[in-house]
Amino acid sequence: MIDTINIDIKQTQNSKLNSVDFNDIEFGKVYSDHMFISNYREGKWGGNKILPYGDISVSPATPAIHYGQSIFEGMKAYRSPEGEILLFRPLDNFNRLNISADRMCMPHVDEEVFMEGLSQLIKLDESWVPSAESTSLYIRPFLFSADEYIGIRPSVDFDFMIITCPVGKYYSKPVKVKIETKFARAVEGGTGYAKAGGNYGGALHPAKLAQENGYDQLIWTDGKEHKYIEEAGTMNVLFVIDDVLVTAPAGDTILKGITRDSVLTLARDWGMKVEERKLEVTELIDAVKSGRLKEAFGAGTAATIAHIATIGHEGVDYDLPEIQSDSLSHRILNELNAIRTGRKEDKFGWVHRI
Ligand code: COI
Repeated sequence: MIDTINIDIKQTQNSKLNSVDFNDIEFGKVYSDHMFISNYREGKWGGNKILPYGDISVSPATPAIHYGQSIFEGMKAYRSPEGEILLFRPLDNFNRLNISADRMCMPHVDEEVFMEGLSQLIKLDESWVPSAESTSLYIRPFLFSADEYIGIRPSVDFDFMIITCPVGKYYSKPVKVKIETKFARAVEGGTGYAKAGGNYGGALHPAKLAQENGYDQLIWTDGKEHKYIEEAGTMNVLFVIDDVLVTAPAGDTILKGITRDSVLTLARDWGMKVEERKLEVTELIDAVKSGRLKEAFGAGTAATIAHIATIGHEGVDYDLPEIQSDSLSHRILNELNAIRTGRKEDKFGWVHRI
């Protein structure tokens, strides 16, 4: 049982709810009516507020802007057929936020600040949780330096916030990805395992170059030799080779995805052989050429499962078999959708009712 905290709530007088078309929602375009904020001052969290969603004021000297001392999480809330609001694995996001905080020299957010802020915000904006198939409320908790100081040092003051937005599908069709062999997303000893804003900013340029060449996203390889497969775009990446589910081990350079863990857990539960191991690009390409690569897919909160249709490597595009109704990635997506909307038994304790 966590302690409860005091949250001052100021409700909006201008709800945007009626102007939103919930059948046509572009990811990240429309934000719900309210936001949560907590301040870390003199070594403790306080000043908890829920306010109408809107611009915030920050010092132009904050290290969040200059040095990227800023981390975030991505999570989702779903509506059950009975109308309940269900959060998917929120404590895993909470724990990962604090792992990222350690790496970026930031204080841990208190569990009651995270969980109470989240629960009260979602309760207040509960009408924003959509119910149609493939929709959910995307939740973005984030923590950033609030110091006014451009010298280099770990900051002293921080703000933690949560904003939310109703979302539909992230990708409308299977994606075409290119194996990146020049740029790197992460290196050993770096910040790849943290959800640090700079990891995503640094990935934009290589992704843009790939998009100019007709790809939707990249498959990242290791930063040292570009020999091993790591992630895909902003997601973990998994492959079915023969009948084995293979993915890179979540070490220093790879984000320990909560969707990744959910996929591996379900596959193991279904009796499938799962290997978390280094996968060489050459092994993957050989598997595509010989027809042993049955499926490839990204796994992340925003997309859940992103089926991969084509993999490009050294100027050659390899098409993968089309996804069938009995494909693993398809069955996993259906199972995850059923569990997180409360339509199927939650035997792993993933669902948190608000
Ligand atoms: C997520 O899946 O939550 C992500 O981190 C993707 C996001 C950067 C849009």
